[in-house]
Amino acid sequence: MSSPSPNGTIDYTALVHDDRIHASLYTDPRIFDDEMERIFRRGWVFVGHDSEIPSAGDFVTRRVGTEPVIMVRGKDGDVSVFVNRCMHRGTMVCPADRGSARTFTCPYHGWTYDISGELLGVPYPGGYAAFDKSAHGLTRAPRLSSYRGFVFASLSPAGISLAEHLGSATRLIDRSCDLSPAGEVELTAGWVKHRCAANWKALPENDSDGYHLGFVHRALFSTVRSQYQRVVGDERAIKAVVRDWGNGHIEIDWSPGYQGPFEWLGGVSGSAVADFVAALERRDGAEVTRRRLLGGPAHALIFPNLFLGETNIAIVEPVSVEECVHWHTPMFLTGVPEFRSRLLRMAEAGMGPASFLMPEDLLVASRNQLGLHARTAVWLELGRGLNRERVDAEGRTVSHVTDETTNRALWRHYRTVMTEA
Ligand code: FES
Ligand SMILES: [Fe+2]
Repeated sequence: MSSPSPNGTIDYTALVHDDRIHASLYTDPRIFDDEMERIFRRGWVFVGHDSEIPSAGDFVTRRVGTEPVIMVRGKDGDVSVFVNRCMHRGTMVCPADRGSARTFTCPYHGWTYDISGELLGVPYPGGYAAFDKSAHGLTRAPRLSSYRGFVFASLSPAGISLAEHLGSATRLIDRSCDLSPAGEVELTAGWVKHRCAANWKALPENDSDGYHLGFVHRALFSTVRSQYQRVVGDERAIKAVVRDWGNGHIEIDWSPGYQGPFEWLGGVSGSAVADFVAALERRDGAEVTRRRLLGGPAHALIFPNLFLGETNIAIVEPVSVEECVHWHTPMFLTGVPEFRSRLLRMAEAGMGPASFLMPEDLLVASRNQLGLHARTAVWLELGRGLNRERVDAEGRTVSHVTDETTNRALWRHYRTVMTEA
């Protein structure tokens, strides 16, 4: 479907209203190209986590938008992000998902780079009259910044800082990291990737949608006990909320509906738990620890591509206007190895290919995408909850968990980014 502005620049204010959005936002390839430039090149994008590359030479390959990159730990211990593109004729220099390397050698004609991106040498150099190796190093992401081990890159040399982008949403990352007595999480189990036949924005929207649970996940709730069951049923009895943190960062907060500690971990007990609780209490005191264990980790989108999925971390990777890849990995708590197998099993049961939640979400996203090809109707309704939203003491809009407050917050920020000079 083409947007209402077929020839000139796209008028995002005409496509994104406060209570409805135009279907072409999910189907127009020109809009996808615009997003790759404005959101994924100029903005801050989550690339990876410190724990994935603990030692010098360790690397992972990712995409920033559609740009292939290598995130590597240098000899000095610092992290760099390079565009994964040979400076000879453009081949992807490193094809592996992860590994450890002293050099990267291009598979095509053997140009070799060191882990600081410098070109070390080219085969048969006699074919070049004068060759300036220093002008042919790998392209470095101009800006790199991290928060509590979460590494973000911007492919633009100018723009707001990561701190400005995250704003108060750092507290969502804190909420997850502070559950570890060491104050850190580890993403070391490896990632599972699901390809999804939907526009990339469908995933962050669905992650922050509390309305669909009783329908998309009906089979799960009828067979397995889950803390989410409490958000299905009498609308007035549901206590979980959605919250807008600004800058496109949005949250479902389940914790008002939790009835005891560790519901987010499926309920645990025993001596390992006692040691863990004691370690948190030594650091934070009894009352703060009680609140942390009741509330659990965040369920939140850090705009645009990082999803703090409670005990999992997920990434959405755009591929093309109608295709994306969903990545997930369990979030291990540093210093609490006794929870690892449980967290791994929870990731498999909730997000894995043979699980309920994620396959159901990805399937409905692909059906959503197919429905958006209809030309008889072009607007998506996003007004749910406008009648009962409230603003909390910190200025954040909060509403019933089934309300589209999160969608509206996402789209409002989207419109700002897509129309900025
Ligand atoms: S494209 Fe990399 S060496 Fe030729
Ligand atoms: Fe879902």
